[in-house]
Amino acid sequence: MSHDVDTDPKNTSDEHNVVDKLHRPLRDLRVSVTDRCNFRCVYCMPKSVFSKEYKFLPRSELLSFEEITRVVKTAAQFGVTKIRLTGGEPLIRNDLEQLVEWIANVDGIKDISLTTNASLLTKKRAVSLRSAGLQRLNVSLDAIDDETFKRVNDVDIGVQDVLDGIEHATLAGFKSTKVNMVVKKGLNDHSILPMAKFFHGTGQILRFIEFMDVGSTNAWDLSHVVTSQEIADRINAELPIQPAEANYRGEVAKRWQYVDGGGEIGIITSVSEPFCGDCSRARLSATGSVYTCLFATSGHDLRPLLRSQDDAALAREFKRIWSSREDRYSETRTQVSVIRPKVEMSFIGG
Ligand code: GTP
Ligand code: 5AD
Ligand code: SF4
Ligand code: SF4
Repeated sequence: MSHDVDTDPKNTSDEHNVVDKLHRPLRDLRVSVTDRCNFRCVYCMPKSVFSKEYKFLPRSELLSFEEITRVVKTAAQFGVTKIRLTGGEPLIRNDLEQLVEWIANVDGIKDISLTTNASLLTKKRAVSLRSAGLQRLNVSLDAIDDETFKRVNDVDIGVQDVLDGIEHATLAGFKSTKVNMVVKKGLNDHSILPMAKFFHGTGQILRFIEFMDVGSTNAWDLSHVVTSQEIADRINAELPIQPAEANYRGEVAKRWQYVDGGGEIGIITSVSEPFCGDCSRARLSATGSVYTCLFATSGHDLRPLLRSQDDAALAREFKRIWSSREDRYSETRTQVSVIRPKVEMSFIGG
């Protein structure tokens, strides 16, 4: 398996940049603001585990928006320019607009986006998030017919609620909303073409995500993965597509363009073609731990440092965490023989 690490000698640590042990810079911080979600997607928060009795984090354990902003400032000092807010479902957190506004004012932050299931995205909320400085939205939607979609979300929410959310985003001025569809064989792979046809020509970029072995509760198995090649072949057979250049180095989705000018799609190939060589993403949990990989077993708890006002100590710890990183789980998953407890997607936010 290839391991395309950046060995550019310019990629070294200095006071404004930090690179990890595989010479990868830090550019993105994905911030989970809650572990709760109003969906129970069967591949992410199965009801058998996330039941009425499940103990979600108490409010007192969540980082405050002041604390999150402080971590963002520290990260920006070391080269982070992109922030993505995630959950669980981030719109569950009240007054998210305040956090967006504070992050938008941090020096060096150029891009603030949100990953959401959009079911709670009212017109008012979309407008207030946009005015607060949110630039982009990625919306999860796994099917375009109610029967399949309800089977996936398991809470009886119909497709129209999500489409309304996307419409509200457009009306509020969000331009390139992306739609994420996790593809799980036997669950929703029959929806690949109907989804492609629905979003073809709309300006929304549909991205297919290979079902990944995140967490320990989703009973992942390689036989449930539809590979990117197969996804592309199925679409190409009816709506011809051709590969397109990446927008930037390290872009997670491989881009494809419709030959007829109907726009583009993306495929996220974490299983069949891992992209760890360019991975510049750190994740901050809602409880204040930094994870250097989506598949990490544990994080680095920043809370003790967040309790003190010593910014220099926080910066030193942040730098230490990234400089000692050597994760590349997706490239090694087939070699990992011991089953390790991994952090749940709903906790770390994808
Ligand atoms: P933009 O390209 O900036 O719009 O964002 P994105 O594609 O990184 O964000 P999004 O949250 O929409 O990511 C889509 C999916 O890609 C996530 O839900 C994850 O399933 C997957 N993904 C994102 N980052 C990583 C990563 O670092 N490793 C792996 N294995 N998967 C990732
Ligand atoms: N594999 C791939 N993507 C997943 N997501 C959640 N669980 C998985 C998984 N096992 C996706 C969601 C959402 C994003 C945050 O992560 O559908 O688009
Ligand atoms: Fe579904 Fe996203 Fe909620 Fe997980 S966090 S249950 S994928 S909507
Ligand atoms: Fe980055 Fe880990 Fe995903 Fe690889 S598996 S791309 S190192 S988050």
